[in-house]
Amino acid sequence: MDLGLSNKVAVIMGGTSGVGMKAAEMFLQEGAMVAICGRNQDRMESACKHLQQFGSSDRVFAQTCDVTSQADVNRFINQAAENFGGIDILVNSAGQSVMGHFFDITDEQWREQIDLKYFAIIYAVRAVFPYMVKRGGGRIVNINATLAKEPERHMVATAATRAGLLNLSKTLSHELAGNNILVNSVSLGLIRTDQWERRRLKNAPDMEPEAYYNELARKRNIPLGRVGEPEEVASVILFLASKQASYVSGSTIEAAGALGKAL
Ligand SMILES: NC(=O)c1ccc[n+]([C@@H]2O[C@H](COP(=O)([O-])OP(=O)(O)OC[C@H]3O[C@@H](n4cnc5c(N)ncnc54)[C@H](OP(=O)(O)O)[C@@H]3O)[C@@H](O)[C@H]2O)c1
Repeated sequence: MDLGLSNKVAVIMGGTSGVGMKAAEMFLQEGAMVAICGRNQDRMESACKHLQQFGSSDRVFAQTCDVTSQADVNRFINQAAENFGGIDILVNSAGQSVMGHFFDITDEQWREQIDLKYFAIIYAVRAVFPYMVKRGGGRIVNINATLAKEPERHMVATAATRAGLLNLSKTLSHELAGNNILVNSVSLGLIRTDQWERRRLKNAPDMEPEAYYNELARKRNIPLGRVGEPEEVASVILFLASKQASYVSGSTIEAAGALGKAL
């Protein structure tokens, strides 16, 4: 199926690892151009090298950028637009969660989550807006979590800020509709990315990865019986960016193996 992504420009905040990098790979396979960022220079360079297997080097633009810094976000997005001559798609995938109950989370951790889950998105949307307007429209995909609708006590700060982002995404879909910019969310359950690999290496370094993830799926009662793979999220991102999703805005698609009961 032709997704209509050939020669589109996709900017992926946090595209140097996990879901963001897999989406970058798949956008390149569809003939798009991608701009990726992350904070860590080494991870950025190795992601860039990896992505060049899927598209020529002039189709990949990479820069370090901390998405919680407005100056960084403006610099990265303006230079990506200059490099490719415009922007069609924004994927907000940068981030990580913080574990902890209400009385354990420090003010600093709350502020980090608010910066990462609200301000990073606000900065990126403001920065891409004029470029999408010039193109006559665009797509914004915000990566979220099932936690937004089903909070868990041990992830209070992440869950609360995720709920806010879900709300913001809905408002943005209304606000930007007049500019033909479609805004949607993908809500993740448990996806096997570097985020989980770091936890596995910290908590169960001697356990076989397969056994660890099977146990995780069992403990979390994932109805499909397994943890998800990054491509199972990236394919939803590509759909939301595709010409086939031209009437989809303000929606949330769950890529979570039927985890959770919220409607
Ligand atoms: N995997 C899951 O089970 C799961 C579940 C629910 C939601 N999510 C969400 O899905 C998104 C993608 O996560 P993932 O699992 O793909 O994680 P990942 O493999 O750890 O990738 C996260 C990416 O975000 C970048 N990043 C993190 N903080 C950043 C910052 N302040 N500025 C710029 N880049 C930053 C990382 O690069 P640097 O570290 O180099 O900056 C990396 O490229 C995140 O928002 C995450 O919270 C994931």
